[in-house]
Amino acid sequence: MLTDSYGRVHRDLRVSLTDRCNLRCTYCMPAEGVPWTPTPELLTTDELLRIVDTAVSAGITEVRLTGGEPLLRPDIVDVVRGIASMTSNDGEPVEVSMTTNALRLPRLAEPLKEAGLARVNISLDTLRPDRFQQMARRDRFDDTMTGIAAADAAGFHPLKLNTVLLRGVNDDEAADLLRWSVERGYELRFIEQMPLDGGHIWQRSEMITGAEILAMLREEFELTEMPGRGAAPAERFLVDGGPSTVGVIASVTMPFCGACDRLRLTADGQLRSCLFARGETDLRTPLRDGSSEEEITALIHACLASKLPGHGINEPGFLQPPRPMSAIGG
Ligand code: 5AD
Ligand code: SF4
Repeated sequence: MLTDSYGRVHRDLRVSLTDRCNLRCTYCMPAEGVPWTPTPELLTTDELLRIVDTAVSAGITEVRLTGGEPLLRPDIVDVVRGIASMTSNDGEPVEVSMTTNALRLPRLAEPLKEAGLARVNISLDTLRPDRFQQMARRDRFDDTMTGIAAADAAGFHPLKLNTVLLRGVNDDEAADLLRWSVERGYELRFIEQMPLDGGHIWQRSEMITGAEILAMLREEFELTEMPGRGAAPAERFLVDGGPSTVGVIASVTMPFCGACDRLRLTADGQLRSCLFARGETDLRTPLRDGSSEEEITALIHACLASKLPGHGINEPGFLQPPRPMSAIGG
């Protein structure tokens, strides 16, 4: 079992497959000048699967593939198939899900489903093409919509959508996005903007808080809080009595670190105990130097032992992690 010093049992591994992306969302990446990880430093498919397999033997039961944009990885279907064929210690198949911007889903949704991908979370911040262009710095709204429809058609249900609201940019769209999602049977989740962007633009005063989001939604919908959140970051609500739900992920104003069950592996093979951790445990070098599975397992436990009780965003002296979200993986 992957238990840390605070008794939290870790079952969820987030794997960033690449730090590259075909969008440039302002809250995530700067417009240009992102230093990409050189290809030789990226884990190969085999290396990636070996590390995930070791983590699964140590206690991981659920793997979420992230990026950058995970669908930019040419071997994405093989990665999904490889992980989906692993068995966790509880005897069940490892559950594989993905967070994506949907741009490549028209071509990949079916093969990914067939390879064993269980769920997808798609980022959608606006329903207006002009705003999409402003926020993502690319004119790809229609492609995103086509990608969402492809995920739906391939049977990824319930389809989850992630929204980040930015003050003065798209914060008037909370209710519109929820109505649109409810009509289609999608589960929308609002994520508070976190200090993780490559451009270092995050400011507390500019962040739309979970409380603000709920107040805006309650002007148009009746929201009933659902019990049983467990380790899930989202606080969920029934919308107008259900069955539709909406989630609010208030990572900054209402941290859920006490129930965290997540570890993160970067595309270049560094294990992180938290999105906001300042240190990383290098698994790539020992793997390439021929370390045994036992040695890699010991490194995973060492990383976990360094995990702090919380992310510290609200404490004086908080420093943003040296690498941006696109390199760490959501
Ligand atoms: N704060 C909150 N969420 C973010 N995401 C990317 N950057 C940030 C940030 N700074 C979201 C994306 C995507 C998920 C992986 O994380 O919108 O849905
Ligand atoms: Fe790309 Fe996702 Fe970052 Fe947007 S938030 S730039 S889609 S990695």
